[in-house]
Amino acid sequence: MIWKTRLTEMMETKYPVIMGAFAGIGRAKFAAPFSNAGGLGIVTALNFKTPALFKKELSRMHDLTDKPFGINISVIPPQVRGGQSMKRKTQEEYLGYVEVALDEGVKIFTTSAYQADFIGKRIHEAGCYWFHKSATISHAQSAEKAGADAVTIVGLEGTGFKNPLTQTTLVNLTLGRRMLSVPIIAAGGIGDARGFLGALAMGADAVCFGTAIMMTEECPSMNKLKEKWMSADIFSEEYYQKIYHLQLRDTSVPSMAIGHLNKIISMKDFLDGIMEEAESILRKWGFEGEEFKTTN
Ligand SMILES: Cc1cc2nc3c(=O)[nH]c(=O)nc-3n(C[C@H](O)[C@H](O)[C@H](O)COP(=O)(O)O)c2cc1C
Repeated sequence: MIWKTRLTEMMETKYPVIMGAFAGIGRAKFAAPFSNAGGLGIVTALNFKTPALFKKELSRMHDLTDKPFGINISVIPPQVRGGQSMKRKTQEEYLGYVEVALDEGVKIFTTSAYQADFIGKRIHEAGCYWFHKSATISHAQSAEKAGADAVTIVGLEGTGFKNPLTQTTLVNLTLGRRMLSVPIIAAGGIGDARGFLGALAMGADAVCFGTAIMMTEECPSMNKLKEKWMSADIFSEEYYQKIYHLQLRDTSVPSMAIGHLNKIISMKDFLDGIMEEAESILRKWGFEGEEFKTTN
């Protein structure tokens, strides 16, 4: 089956999937397997102290994959405090990372967390695509107005930067689809084929995986930690508070997507598994005469 959406066309990927940005671990060793498996791997620029170090990582990326990949620049909001990757930079400093990526032939630039119009402008001057990630539909609308070629909206079920007005992935997609013209990338709580297909049905042109791919062999976190996450009680009150009541404090606790995973597998098996199951659901679903049948 060939997956064709507005975003597979832009990203030139086999599957309509894009990797999340990852503070600390979004490096070539983690991103290249995502690209090799058919999605758009993302190297997180601010994991590198200087544009020169980032440039080295992008050339490592070229060694590890001949498939398309992108980069992320998280524009840190003024209210966020944290470690190296959470330090706010000047516009010139952010643009230094952009120039390096342009030099290395990157075509897809993702920005997140805060207004990134100044980055989008430079990306468009260079003839590349700019995708912006936000936590609300209204911020996605602002990004669209500023010229973003696609928007990712992270739902409440997800992790990473959130906003007190963050809505569920369902609301972001079904209403976002009516309120936005640019392609939408679904993010937040998606970890299996049904979530993936549901997102496309609700209006997304691609799906972003964050938490789910942290359980792959290629994720640089320790296996012990992955096992611990997979056995976390996501239905406990503590977890509920963390995820739904914004008690993340801008750290990234694995999202509700973790509930879909129970063993560490390769990135290729993870992505192929989702796509094969999605295809099988679609092929079984459908009409017999006037009667519609699901596989459930
Ligand atoms: C460990 C970790 C680090 C993250 N770091 C960033 C980051 O630096 N910038 C960013 O925009 N999003 C970051 N995110 C959010 C992801 O890119 C993605 O939007 C989110 O994980 C999607 O929700 P999901 O985890 O339910 O798939 C991070 C997520 C995790 C799990």
